[in-house]
Amino acid sequence: MNILVVGGGGREHAIIKKLKENKTIDTIYALPGNGGIAQDATCVNIGAKDLDAIVEFAKTNDIAYAVVAPDDPLVLGCVDRLNEIGIPCFGPDAKAAIIEGSKAFSKDLMRKYNIPTAEYQVFTDCAEALKYVETCNIPVVVKADGLALGKGVIIAMTRQEAAEAVKSMMEGHVFGHSGDSVVIEEFLEGPEISVLSFTDGETVVPMISSMDHKRALDNDQGKNTGGMGTIAPNPYYTDAVAERCMNEIFVPTIRAMKAEGRPFKGCLYFGLMLTKQGPKVIEYNCRFGDPETQVVLPLMESDLLTVMQATTNGTLKDTEVKFSNGAACCVIMASNGYPESYDKGFEIKADADFDACMYVAGAKLEDGKLLTNGGRVLGITATGDNLNQAIDKAYVAVNKVHFDNAFYRKDIGQRALKALSEN
Ligand code: AMP
Ligand code: GLY
Repeated sequence: MNILVVGGGGREHAIIKKLKENKTIDTIYALPGNGGIAQDATCVNIGAKDLDAIVEFAKTNDIAYAVVAPDDPLVLGCVDRLNEIGIPCFGPDAKAAIIEGSKAFSKDLMRKYNIPTAEYQVFTDCAEALKYVETCNIPVVVKADGLALGKGVIIAMTRQEAAEAVKSMMEGHVFGHSGDSVVIEEFLEGPEISVLSFTDGETVVPMISSMDHKRALDNDQGKNTGGMGTIAPNPYYTDAVAERCMNEIFVPTIRAMKAEGRPFKGCLYFGLMLTKQGPKVIEYNCRFGDPETQVVLPLMESDLLTVMQATTNGTLKDTEVKFSNGAACCVIMASNGYPESYDKGFEIKADADFDACMYVAGAKLEDGKLLTNGGRVLGITATGDNLNQAIDKAYVAVNKVHFDNAFYRKDIGQRALKALSEN
């Protein structure tokens, strides 16, 4: 059986490595993949947003199942297009992917169905938005409605910052049409928890919880990034919190999407904040998180393809989804300068005794050499019996990987360890 995976980052590498454990799979094609993924799959130089070329490729390569991993193709309707030619897919159709594609949609959904989230207002008129930030509570959070490569959220600590954020999105169009409307919402406080879930539109099965580290520098300093490292499980996600999330957030969201005529199938990502009043939704993503996937899938004991197919077929209720009792840590090795400008083209080498999982996010193969080719370059994941062990093993491995201009956070998992010691 041939499988197609759309995407080309560390998340896709983790998905592909996990899929490969299923021995009924003959060939995995990655579109476009990357220089590291090329060691585990057949990479084809077709961009993840080039839906026409993806469909054409799928038609002619005997594809039995497709996994659409990134947000852009999902929101653009890649699953709809592949379904039209009879190819079953993992991932929501465009109608359901709007839960990530439009923050105004997701906020209105939560309001309508009483799902706990930050108070908010949606604006399509810049003058009105500016007027609102003159009197609203500060800090306040300004979000571009549409997709913005994870950069469309500005936490404004002052009124002036809020006004500047509104202007840059609505008048300066820094995120293109994604900023034509903005959501302005209440600033929430508390630890963040990522929960990815499998769902077939009826049943929702949470995966092991995780914690992202979004800021570029140690102690949560520096710019917001796509994520500089992750750990799983998240110690703030206690059984009591999990139960509240299931009853107040996960099940109501799946039911709401179904009631709206937009049943969600695939991976629904809940970005949560554990506030004093309880867990609240910060954001939904219509896909696996990056780099959450790089710690969640290594702890999954069930066969990934079987579970993915159950989300497509509507049989998730009868499918076992099992995770280990251990822990995982992923440290992102990035290029110095990320998330802004950085140099590329440096050779990546690992010592012979490197003993961890190397997920490649931004690298290309040239003359047999792996060269850096992105801001986030590698995700180094280690697993262990507990979080301490996983963190230690991950950093031992990071020290055995070398490329010029490499930088990484030294404190991935420290906040989680502190929380564990306080419990
Ligand atoms: P998002 O892209 O929606 O995940 O937002 C990026 C980050 O901004 C989140 O991970 C939070 O750390 C922060 N954030 C988003 N919304 C809020 C909010 N209402 N209050 C406080 N922080 C927020
Ligand atoms: N790590 C956050 C995301 O994938 O959006």
